[in-house]
Amino acid sequence: MARWLVTGGCGFIGSNFILGLLLKRREDRVVNLDSLTYAGNPENLASIEKDPRYKFVHGDIRDTDTVARILGEGVDYVVNFAAESHVDRSILDSGPFIATNVQGVQVMLDAARKHGKLSKFVQVSTDEVYGSLGPEGRFTETSPLAPNSPYSASKAAADLLVRSYFKTFGLPAVVTRCSNNYGPYQFPEKLIPLFVTNAMQDLPLPLYGDGKNVRDWIHVSDHCSALMLAAEKGVPGEVYNIGGGNERTNIEITGMILRALRKPESLIKPVKDRPAHDRRYAIDDSKIRASLGMKPQVDFEQGISETVRWYAGNRKWWERVKTGEYREYYRKQYGSEPDRL
Ligand code: NAD
Ligand code: TYD
Repeated sequence: MARWLVTGGCGFIGSNFILGLLLKRREDRVVNLDSLTYAGNPENLASIEKDPRYKFVHGDIRDTDTVARILGEGVDYVVNFAAESHVDRSILDSGPFIATNVQGVQVMLDAARKHGKLSKFVQVSTDEVYGSLGPEGRFTETSPLAPNSPYSASKAAADLLVRSYFKTFGLPAVVTRCSNNYGPYQFPEKLIPLFVTNAMQDLPLPLYGDGKNVRDWIHVSDHCSALMLAAEKGVPGEVYNIGGGNERTNIEITGMILRALRKPESLIKPVKDRPAHDRRYAIDDSKIRASLGMKPQVDFEQGISETVRWYAGNRKWWERVKTGEYREYYRKQYGSEPDRL
């Protein structure tokens, strides 16, 4: 029986991770520490709310006492998902990104060091710390860090803090750097859920620039399986890239979504490009495949169809989150409400 502290477990990847973990490790226990920002939604975990193996703590990873208390109750693995996670929001206001993604990680690391009994601390990072690629090549774990957005810079800072806690204090920590995730429970500010839900409502799909930026997509369940491997088998001090091997341009993704929903291309609305918009991400994940046996399972075309079906079947979930603060964000980001773009 292992005890896990998952932070940010009410977000997209964290909730998928907890649901998968409790299915795969029947004896394990999970504490979920989440401050419930706009992106945190306890509804994602409604199906396990009453499971005696699961406990939710409403709190902030920057709160030293809360983190120390949870660790003191007994924890083997920490998986730190908690973050501000959206590039566009980091361009509008980088403050919360430094607070949670840098200062929050420092608090978590320090508490973990003082706890002294962890089997592994997994810092969930991103391929965006490597910056942008040209048409050729892929990121390896030794590619230089060259973040271009306040989001990716805050994640790179955290990665370096993790490295320092391993080197200085011997904290058994690993860093994982994954490519773009898609799947159920993703907040509809990121490309795929935004375009799927807008298309379902016959609203414009705001495509940045020429639409030819490339991302390397992975299904969230494959990312979560890789994170379990990193926690249970990862070698302290190592960095592991995680990728799906599904490079697509944004316009290709948009076409897949429109075809799946039988909606017209006239919904595509080219808008001003994102500043410092990374052109291409592509991951070389041969290290985690060879050393930990990671192997993505979800076929991309099938994964996208299933994801589109999930949003079609969970309309209440996303209609609720697309109100209030979301509409205000939309006005700031796109210059008008979704229906007036
Ligand atoms: P998300 O925005 O959906 O969820 C983030 C969660 O963290 C939310 O539940 C939020 O309430 C919580 N949170 C934020 N600040 C907190 C704080 N100070 N204390 C406690 N909880 C806090 O994000 P996501 O897409 O699930 O991403 C999870 C992690 O994975 C992030 O660290 C992100 O950088 C990383 N990542 C994401 C992707 C992707 O494609 N989404 C790819 C690679 C890496
Ligand atoms: P996003 O989902 O924000 O992830 P990231 O920037 O972390 O890769 O964006 C994925 C791609 O989609 C990226 O190239 C930007 C583009 N994009 C749009 O064209 N329009 C949008 O409204 C959004 C949110 C993203």
